[in-house]
Amino acid sequence: MKARKTIPLLDLKAQWAEIRDEVVPAVLAVLDSQQFILGPEVEALELELAVYLGARYAIAVASGTDALLLALRALGVGPGDEVITTAYSFFSTASTSALLGARPVFVDIDPVTYNLDPAQIEKRITERTRAIVPVHLFGQPAHLAPILELARLYRLAVIEDTAQAIGSRYQGVAAGSLGDAGCLSFYPSKNLGGFGDGGMVLTNREDVAKTVRELRVHGASREYHHRRVGYNSRLDALQAAVLRVKLKYLERWTYARRRHADQYDRLFVDSPVRAPVKAKGCEHVYNNYVIRVPRRDELLAHLREQGIGAAVYYPVPLHRLECFAPLVPEGLSLPEAERASRETMAIPVYPELSEEDVSRVASTILGFYQHSS
Ligand SMILES: Cc1ncc(COP(=O)(O)O)c(C=O)c1O
Repeated sequence: MKARKTIPLLDLKAQWAEIRDEVVPAVLAVLDSQQFILGPEVEALELELAVYLGARYAIAVASGTDALLLALRALGVGPGDEVITTAYSFFSTASTSALLGARPVFVDIDPVTYNLDPAQIEKRITERTRAIVPVHLFGQPAHLAPILELARLYRLAVIEDTAQAIGSRYQGVAAGSLGDAGCLSFYPSKNLGGFGDGGMVLTNREDVAKTVRELRVHGASREYHHRRVGYNSRLDALQAAVLRVKLKYLERWTYARRRHADQYDRLFVDSPVRAPVKAKGCEHVYNNYVIRVPRRDELLAHLREQGIGAAVYYPVPLHRLECFAPLVPEGLSLPEAERASRETMAIPVYPELSEEDVSRVASTILGFYQHSS
């Protein structure tokens, strides 16, 4: 019997095969230059991404986590402050506030989009609130209009966690360029992923850009002159060279992700599977295609048995993490974040999937419910 092909959750080797001939000379050029940290490749990437995303400034840093950390600090977040954010995201959405001595204030999500529910923000604002961090989770922009309005009313900073959503648009404007700052991640599994860690802060504010530029080089305004204590958080030229090649493919890859998502959406109609919902005015880029399903853990095990990659993002909502316990009010219940962490899972949506692959993933899922109901 012919062995069945496995379909991983993400196949970076397939992408590598497509771009190898372009990436290798770009990497060799950096090696020949022996200029490894910041420099012309990084500046070119900053310019290209600023233009692509319509931000006035783009500052490359060492990771998406650092992008959040430096942006929060540049916007004045510090000890004793409170930062309102979603309870359902990757760890560093909240850890970065905690690292600065601030308290992440976790708010529940909209159960349809999984993004921060703007209706629940205002009641959590106090005199100590300094910023709001909405996350464009899985690649779909958060509902920013009411968030930006609250921020204006209460004079709060908005830092968009755009780690999963490069190229997504909210009411026609690129996510990451609407708030005081937007933060990108170039972690390899992101839609624009490097060959290691990397990140970027986007902003339209000159003061924020200037501070982030200083913070990434130890807080130095010029060499050996430090106004404040900063970090070593610079992007490597090698990463920039790789990312510049990949940026040329990004729109095409995003289009392929959307095509796969549309195919899944059609196949899951009238089934127990809740497909992701496209919110009004939002253009999703599907860094993850996340479904809500009955008997999630059994389905996960079944898919793995059938050679299909799937994963849970995120099994523990942030307000339930042990490290945040001292910062979270006792007994805080955020039912939708908790429910999403029990009922959802991501299935393959990477660009190089074929139509047959998508069909097979969908039919394996649908078959699981048909045969076991
Ligand atoms: C929503 C979100 N925020 C922040 C990050 C942190 O980015 P990085 O891994 O580049 O530090 C990630 C990804 O890992 C993420 O998915």
